[in-house]
Amino acid sequence: MCGIVGVLGNHEVAPLLVEGLKRLEYRGYDSAGIATINNGVLDRRRAVGKLVNLSDLLVHEPLAGKSGIGHTRWATHGAATVLNAHPHRAGSVAVVHNGIIENFRALREELAADGYIQESETDTETVALLLKRAMDGGSAPVEATRATLKRLDGAFALCILFEGEDDLMICARKGSPLAIGRGDGEMFVGSDAIALAPMTDRITYLEEGDWAVITRKGAEIFDAEDRRANRAETVIQVGATRVEKGGYKHFMAKEIAEQPVVLADALRHYTGSGANPALNLPEGLDFSQIDRVVMVACGTASYATHVAKYWFEQIAGIPAEIDVASEFRYREPVLSDRSMALFVSQSGETADTLAALRHVKERVAKVVSVVNVPTSSIARESDLALPILAGAEIGVASTKAFSCQLLVLALMALKAAADRGRISAADLAAHIAGLRNLPGLMNAALSHSEQIADIANELAKATDILFLGRGPMFPMALEGALKLKEISYIHAEGYASGELKHGPIALIDEKVPVIVLAPSDPLFDKTVSNMQEVMARHGKVLLVSDARGVHEAGEGTWAQLTLPEVDPVWAPILYAVPVQLLAYHTAIAKGTDVDQPRNLAKSVTVE
Ligand code: M6R
Repeated sequence: MCGIVGVLGNHEVAPLLVEGLKRLEYRGYDSAGIATINNGVLDRRRAVGKLVNLSDLLVHEPLAGKSGIGHTRWATHGAATVLNAHPHRAGSVAVVHNGIIENFRALREELAADGYIQESETDTETVALLLKRAMDGGSAPVEATRATLKRLDGAFALCILFEGEDDLMICARKGSPLAIGRGDGEMFVGSDAIALAPMTDRITYLEEGDWAVITRKGAEIFDAEDRRANRAETVIQVGATRVEKGGYKHFMAKEIAEQPVVLADALRHYTGSGANPALNLPEGLDFSQIDRVVMVACGTASYATHVAKYWFEQIAGIPAEIDVASEFRYREPVLSDRSMALFVSQSGETADTLAALRHVKERVAKVVSVVNVPTSSIARESDLALPILAGAEIGVASTKAFSCQLLVLALMALKAAADRGRISAADLAAHIAGLRNLPGLMNAALSHSEQIADIANELAKATDILFLGRGPMFPMALEGALKLKEISYIHAEGYASGELKHGPIALIDEKVPVIVLAPSDPLFDKTVSNMQEVMARHGKVLLVSDARGVHEAGEGTWAQLTLPEVDPVWAPILYAVPVQLLAYHTAIAKGTDVDQPRNLAKSVTVE
């Protein structure tokens, strides 16, 4: 993870670096730092914790200079301390880094034997010391960098400044994304284009193994074999206003509330706006020769694939496998030229998911991704990328991206059914109509926010909370538990309702809230039986259902939440709203940091 930014500018660079880091803070917020060169002199400022601490430090100890690099850290090697914060400096070299240098221990020992002793616990300082040793041996910055890069194993995006060199910045990428931005007589580097949005929209993405020598005149790019490389410059659309909360207290609240609108937009994009709905998915997404869909993702995106498994199998009759990306490669999946591999990722940069994609690339019929960031590595390395059109998601807890992922996966399942001749035109139209009802139903669900806040005040007192669901509501129980634990820090688990009696029911007592997700669907009665088993053991049940379900089964429960009735097939998309609001309001009641919960980062770019 970590975010890096670099600027060779024409004005004081510290404010630009801080603005860029603000846009990258989603990648980590354990510490932040910047280094600048002022009249040839290299200096740096570093602070533990969020960026605001660095900003405060810069008020008291400003840093002048028109060339600089900055970093926001998600700690991997070494605790969140000033000493471990980037930029790391060794002599005339300052380095910021995203990723992990896997061979840093061996390199550190080698450097120590030569008298180059590391101050910090990080793998990054090793890079700075390698550069220093090369330069002490007489190498110029470019030569020193070329030689140093050859010594590094693992994943990295690096940006380097050299004392005495006001017009030089060198950057490199292997495994971790990096973008170069061009301005008028200014050049920029960022972990993503979003960081550079206030400064430029002219972006060149480095490819795997590339490194670049940058001056204010431009960038000279080399590939992994040190050959000159031409990489296309694109003008990208990233709203400079992206980091606004729009009147909401938290990004998460804003993003939950945006769901009806972004879902409606995505529906218009993929099904048209006329009265006669039609699937408008990209050409090339063809399931007619596919005999299996293999879906891979992490976290919330993974739970979206769990739901989609039901859809692919029930609607399209196509076998669907699901894996968390960090495990996928290691089980040696059996793939064929009739398998479609489907990678789901909000950021499109999740290292585990990207590694899984690369693992299957030549071994399947097609690599398809479902992403929110169309310029991301996962999108660019797929045969076909379907944008979920959720708009920028800033809150670490994924909300609107999840519902949009579900929507795109639902449409893909319908396309699979159509391509395989498993659905009539009338049923297809009815399903699309059902999806089109969702924005309105979500608005109705959002109107329960206050009631959910009252319930959450009670949930906040618990130390353990269970979520139960059956069928596609089982993954929603998993998602509900993930959302709750990640922002409220309350221990929560999701279970398939029927599985409870096989062990977890031992946890039930009057202090354990059990949240039962049970729309009126063909599995409702079975779920309610499992709920009764909980209540018989004094479990404190919150029933989340529709009016019919609450009427039939609400008696004796601790609380009920009544959602609108929904086509059971698409119920998971609607039920995303209450599980998100439950987590949000519980976190508010507990006073945690909703948008930037401890230990987490929005984009997980290390394996
Ligand atoms: O960017 P991605 O969708 O690939 O991220 C995957 C997970 O890291 C992410 O969904 C994570 O679980 C969220 N914080 C959950 O809210």
